[in-house]
Amino acid sequence: MAARILVFAGSIRTGAYSGKTADAAMKELAEQGAEVTRISLGDYPLPIMDQDLEKEEGVPENAYRLGRLIAAHDGMLICSPEYNASIPPLLKNALDWVSRIRKDGGRPFKPFEGKVAGLCSSSDGAFAGARGLYHLRAVLMHCQVEIITPQCSIARASEAFDQDGELKEEHSKKSMATVCRTLIERASMLSTRIEG
Ligand SMILES: Cc1cc2nc3c(=O)[nH]c(=O)nc-3n(C[C@H](O)[C@H](O)[C@H](O)COP(=O)(O)O)c2cc1C
Repeated sequence: MAARILVFAGSIRTGAYSGKTADAAMKELAEQGAEVTRISLGDYPLPIMDQDLEKEEGVPENAYRLGRLIAAHDGMLICSPEYNASIPPLLKNALDWVSRIRKDGGRPFKPFEGKVAGLCSSSDGAFAGARGLYHLRAVLMHCQVEIITPQCSIARASEAFDQDGELKEEHSKKSMATVCRTLIERASMLSTRIEG
């Protein structure tokens, strides 16, 4: 049974480097035999987390849509920029809302529980957005997600991709392949997906 991996970026900016990284990850995962779903967080707009809003209106339907999609996969590959060496608000907000789901259709439901994640970062700078991934790891760990150790960080991202969206540097290709292979292995081993 092929591992099902959900791929998304932590930015919805037009031409986002993290989107390009997510596209490269999607290709690599598929080449390695995974069944891949590539989404944009832009298709799951959410208000800024506000506990008054949550109390009055509950968790928004888009958080449930995202949560159900996560639950229907074995693992996630998240490609993110760093903002001030940390997690961009778009991504943190989405994770925060999904983390508030407790039930679906009257049944206990925690979308993140038992899931595996692989992380990639990108930046036009030399740090490659890697510092933000340590914060992302901590947040996901708190949400009961297992995060694989290898990660792939793309520095000087404006020059890192060719016209076909392929990573140019051999070491980047290698590190992306390692992330994808490790994620597929762990996700297959720990599969808790809910067939939707
Ligand atoms: C609020 C803010 C903070 C940022 N902080 C960092 C940073 O700490 N490190 C970094 O490499 N780039 C930083 N950047 C630049 C982003 O890496 C850059 O805008 C990048 O293109 C965003 O990712 P994307 O291409 O995936 O949209 C920051 C950008 C913004 C808007």
